[in-house]
Amino acid sequence: MTKHPLKDHSLTDHSLSNQPRPAVAVLGLGSMGQALAGAFLDAGHPTTIWNRSDGKGDGLVARGAVRAATPGQAARAAEVVVVCVVDYDAARAVLDQAADDLPGRLLVNLTSDTPERAREAAAWAEALGVDYLDGAVMVPAPMIGTPEALIFHSGTRSAYEKYEPTLKALGGRTAYVGEDHGLAAVHDLAVLDFFWMAMHGLVHGFALAATEGVRAAALAPYVKVLADLLADMVDGTAADLDSGKFPGDLDNLTVEAANVRHIVRAAEHRGLDAAALRGVLTAADRSIALGHGADNWTSIVEGIRDPA
Ligand SMILES: NC(=O)c1ccc[n+]([C@@H]2O[C@H](COP(=O)([O-])OP(=O)(O)OC[C@H]3O[C@@H](n4cnc5c(N)ncnc54)[C@H](OP(=O)(O)O)[C@@H]3O)[C@@H](O)[C@H]2O)c1
Repeated sequence: MTKHPLKDHSLTDHSLSNQPRPAVAVLGLGSMGQALAGAFLDAGHPTTIWNRSDGKGDGLVARGAVRAATPGQAARAAEVVVVCVVDYDAARAVLDQAADDLPGRLLVNLTSDTPERAREAAAWAEALGVDYLDGAVMVPAPMIGTPEALIFHSGTRSAYEKYEPTLKALGGRTAYVGEDHGLAAVHDLAVLDFFWMAMHGLVHGFALAATEGVRAAALAPYVKVLADLLADMVDGTAADLDSGKFPGDLDNLTVEAANVRHIVRAAEHRGLDAAALRGVLTAADRSIALGHGADNWTSIVEGIRDPA
């Protein structure tokens, strides 16, 4: 079988340690569940797998995973039980079947959903007396098991610390973000809020160029210059937000809002949907009306916080 190029940087080096790894179970074998189980196998964890419907996970069994007949049977075989299914309703449907078998084990829910649902799931686990971590996977399945893979966890700190090496088999950038079980989902939503807005801007910029016959590939090198600039601006923007100070000595919101207005006008003139950028402009104008016209771009946050 061909190895995925990302896997060439596998996190695991069994020559370093012969310590037995904790047994794990993975409930849910969609693309992400299969990747998680595969990374546990690569790291030497005895791995039990279960999926609602048949026909998934044969490759994992060929690599040494044991298939369980029920979620409860899978849980009984493991110290750490990972569930990763489509949403929290599905996770609850799976976990209800294993409820009697979960106490004494660490339950890690890597299904994505909202902070509210994460806290509900934590209350359910607490009522059962089960140590619970709520997690969010921030990278696509092929990156699981690599040093670059980012996964957030929140919940019982002692449980996270005990099983951190096990959880790091899934991603080198595994990060514990706090005791409140909703925090992994908060980080997930906030980081993806940034990501999807940026992805929208990326595609929108290409679409705008295309209206004048400029091919995406021709624009791409120049987009990368600004993408690098954006990465460099993350820490400064965070510092301004945390301090609540938006010094406008290098740039100011009035000039930048005028810039956005030009793009909205040009895009709409060419028949493109510019609703997202119009929303940006509305927030900027509101912030200017609140007195931030001479502050830097980050002061748009006041318009975001005051949508009325
Ligand atoms: N794929 C990615 O690259 C990626 C990246 C980041 C985060 N995630 C997150 O990972 C989670 C899983 O995603 P995925 O890509 O693995 O999804 P997927 O490939 O669509 O698989 C969905 C899984 O959920 C199971 N499922 C659905 N409804 C169920 C129910 N009512 N009861 C029991 N099992 C049920 C499916 O079982 P059946 O096989 O029986 O249908 C399958 O195992 C999601 O929360 C997703 O947001 C995925």
